[in-house]
Amino acid sequence: MKTKLLTAHFGKRSYDLHYGSSIFGLLPEVLEQKGLTGRVLIVSNPIVKDLHGDRLLSALSGRRTSWALIPAGERHKNLDTVSSLYVECATTGIDREGVVIALGGGVVQDITNFVTATFKRGVPFIQVPTTLLAQVDIGIGGCAVDHPLGKSLIGTFYQPRAAILDVECLGSLPESEFINGIAEIINKVAGLGGKIDELKADMPAIVSRDPGKVLGCIMDANRIKIAIIERDETGLSGERLVLDWGHTITYAIEKVTNYEMAHGTALGIGMHGAAILSSELGYMPPKRVELLREVIEMAGLPTHLPAGIEAAKLLLAMRNDAKALRGRPRFILLRDFGEAFLSEPIPDAKIEHVLRRLQQ
Ligand SMILES: NC(=O)c1ccc[n+]([C@@H]2O[C@H](COP(=O)([O-])OP(=O)(O)OC[C@H]3O[C@@H](n4cnc5c(N)ncnc54)[C@H](O)[C@@H]3O)[C@@H](O)[C@H]2O)c1
Repeated sequence: MKTKLLTAHFGKRSYDLHYGSSIFGLLPEVLEQKGLTGRVLIVSNPIVKDLHGDRLLSALSGRRTSWALIPAGERHKNLDTVSSLYVECATTGIDREGVVIALGGGVVQDITNFVTATFKRGVPFIQVPTTLLAQVDIGIGGCAVDHPLGKSLIGTFYQPRAAILDVECLGSLPESEFINGIAEIINKVAGLGGKIDELKADMPAIVSRDPGKVLGCIMDANRIKIAIIERDETGLSGERLVLDWGHTITYAIEKVTNYEMAHGTALGIGMHGAAILSSELGYMPPKRVELLREVIEMAGLPTHLPAGIEAAKLLLAMRNDAKALRGRPRFILLRDFGEAFLSEPIPDAKIEHVLRRLQQ
């Protein structure tokens, strides 16, 4: 498989994203090109280090390299872990000629992005995402860590120097984590990119992890996210809000289930709900909603709420969504696949109706 490239354009902070299989060997050249000749600190967790650490170390042989391992799991994406990583950066001697490499899923990526954005007011970092979700929904310079007051409450914007997306890493992913990532493929490639028919045709190959098809979807999803964030890097124009399509009900489900439900699972239901609402408001024909439901279910994801989740609690959670206006939920709706827009506040009765349909 040949190496492929995308560029995220942010003036002097522009960077390349490299795609392929078994491509850790590109790293020495990338570091050289960026003038990153100092110490290398790899942030990871014990699971990912065991699975892919040796491959990364052998690619970096000849460089002074240290590891900083954080415990696996969302509950460690917090300011205590950030603080412990500042100590690791300081003791390793990371400066602007050094580099911090994030080897892991979204938790490792977000936390490393935040640490490198703030340590010494910014040191270089490179993304090496190892889950399908973290590759598909790669952070284009936006990162956040959790706080007792809320998930992803503390964050900033800081671009990496490069990203290496190696599909070889995905071979070791458990089934549930892989399916989690497919939800974000549907979200970006079909919802925002409009390629629902292509995705439906490719879904059997994606589910069986065909490396070429999976890589194609990762690149398609990244192209879409990069283009949106290039136009609205820090959210000033509001254009990047469309990235929230399918996520309003999803975040509410995650909150109400105390983050016990996997993000991709909740997103299957959330995208279905957003499409139903788009149709109920007269934007999208019901047939298109059915097509989306089919594609979500082909991926092995649910499209309806499990028993025991109360609609009233979901509605309450949606009132605190970042897009809500004075407690009145707004949604990213679809005129069709590839045509997302921010709605006006949606009346409670309409949302309750959609939630009832998701309960059937
Ligand atoms: N900044 C952004 O734009 C952005 C976008 C999407 C998600 N996120 C964040 O990402 C996080 C979710 O990411 P995630 O789903 O990758 O979760 P995660 O980082 O917790 O990884 C899931 C599990 O997979 C394991 N793992 C990682 N790579 C593996 C591999 N190759 N083989 C086997 N196991 C592997 C991890 O150790 C972990 O146990 C959330 O915190 C979310 O907020 C951030």
